[in-house]
Amino acid sequence: MSSPTPSAVPSPPPGPAGPAGSVSTAATPAKPMTVPLVRARKRRDGAEPLVMVTAYDEPAARIADAAGVDIVLVGDSVANNVLGYEDTLHVTIDDMARHTAAVARARPRCLVVGDMPWMSYHLSVEDAVRNAATLVRAGAGAVKLEGGRARLPVVEAIVRAEIPVMGHLGLTPQSVLAMGGYRVQGRSADAAQALRDAAKALAVAGCFALVLEGVPDVVAASVTEAVDVPTIGIGAGPACDGQVLVFHDLLGLGARKPPKFARQYADLGRLATEAIAAYAADVRSGAFPNDDESYHASADLQSALAMEDDEIDAPA
Ligand code: KIV
Repeated sequence: MSSPTPSAVPSPPPGPAGPAGSVSTAATPAKPMTVPLVRARKRRDGAEPLVMVTAYDEPAARIADAAGVDIVLVGDSVANNVLGYEDTLHVTIDDMARHTAAVARARPRCLVVGDMPWMSYHLSVEDAVRNAATLVRAGAGAVKLEGGRARLPVVEAIVRAEIPVMGHLGLTPQSVLAMGGYRVQGRSADAAQALRDAAKALAVAGCFALVLEGVPDVVAASVTEAVDVPTIGIGAGPACDGQVLVFHDLLGLGARKPPKFARQYADLGRLATEAIAAYAADVRSGAFPNDDESYHASADLQSALAMEDDEIDAPA
């Protein structure tokens, strides 16, 4: 995969101007990202594109926040990227709460969005609100859920409970069985129109932003034009109001070849394997640990131990 030169990563602040590792200076302390600030980010109104990345634990959240992203999504893709499952259908609300809490412990400046897993909002509206609250209590500032018009009652109820909701349309991975695989959506005129209508309805129901995944670029452009809330694309072309990538795809940490739409900015998987191989070689050759990496005892203790060794070695 081609890797164009990534933009320079800003350096961390010189002093304690913001949360540990956040990108700020004493002159411009990092302000927390909020739902209203995200909601206002329409590019057609002159706003800068939103940057979202997934993170599933404290170190990843710290790294993403230090890089200056706007939103960290604790995605249910933790299932494939961290827990080794084939799809996202295997994670529960308890799994998502645990990972959301780990991300929140980084105390990031960016907005933390907790992904509602399959079956956490499909059984009843009450169940959905309770599960959304579980993610908020774990540290999320908003929740995301997948689907179109069928989700309107749930979105309305969660928003009524004062919990901000991000929608997710197009290729919705929790529908993998119904879709018969991970297929680009909205390819016919009717499907594109339905997607656009669903996006408008979700925005009216109160979603503050919409993820558009796996749709043709012109469809994403048309949806982005049709709604007043920002769209955040993944495999949806450049016209969206923002972009999201999976942490492991972006950094080259995944087990499989990343999808066509994912740009890999680093090969950390290879670097990590090389580093661990170097450690293994040092252990096997005796080069690790060295004197500096060892604790030393006082001269008295050393001679006492030497005397004990002599006694053990002496013939009875
Ligand atoms: O879980 C996830 O990673 C997602 C993104 C693909 C948007 O939902």
